[in-house]
Amino acid sequence: MQSTVIAPSILSADFARLGEEVDNVLAAGADWVHFDVMDNHYVPNLTIGPMVCEALRKHGVTAPIDVHLMVEPVDALVPMFAQAGATHISFHPEASLHPHRTVQLIRASGCRPGVVLNPGTPVDVLDYLLEDLEYVLLMSVNPGFGGQAFIPSTLRKTREVRARIDALGKPIRLEIDGGVKPDNIGEIAAAGADTFVAGSAIFGQSDYRDVIARMKAAVAA
Ligand code: DX5
Ligand code: ZN
Repeated sequence: MQSTVIAPSILSADFARLGEEVDNVLAAGADWVHFDVMDNHYVPNLTIGPMVCEALRKHGVTAPIDVHLMVEPVDALVPMFAQAGATHISFHPEASLHPHRTVQLIRASGCRPGVVLNPGTPVDVLDYLLEDLEYVLLMSVNPGFGGQAFIPSTLRKTREVRARIDALGKPIRLEIDGGVKPDNIGEIAAAGADTFVAGSAIFGQSDYRDVIARMKAAVAA
């Protein structure tokens, strides 16, 4: 099992003070920065691109930046985000004509590749991709917006993907994204996740250190 990673989604941060928000959440114990990229095409919302990633690096952020691409097509943005300082890049296989080629492209660009499964996407999509990935991201809400409720069938899917990773025996991370909070993170961890995205649960609190500590304690319990 991998170490626990808490990855705050900056989708719920105050964008007018983004550098400061990221500094504060990292100082409060966050491990990665989760960076949600939405294109008003693959998902019905529009967010931020490589320039904002680059701006965070120029601001002095040294933590891993976990870019979650909710865009179609995918490939053109991969080298741009690698250049902008991303360390991890995940994409939705439905949005790429050649998902395995996109995995290769992410790795060739110097980043760690992940694929994202929507709540309704079967785990079989991993059959011929898993061994070449660094992480799997399971959506526990439908992508496009922060602040939605955790979809319970994700727990069953988490157990299924955990079993596949364990059978493969490779150090592939299992990340969960959507509706993760201090009161459900324990059962999500027990189902086999090690990497937790949380947007509204963290940025919706005034004390980031307290909520991140409560999340880590619930995972360790
Ligand atoms: C949704 C995004 C998530 C989202 C999570 O499409 O991928 O990262 O920001 O937000 P919460 O934690 O509020 O569900
Ligand atoms: Zn995300």
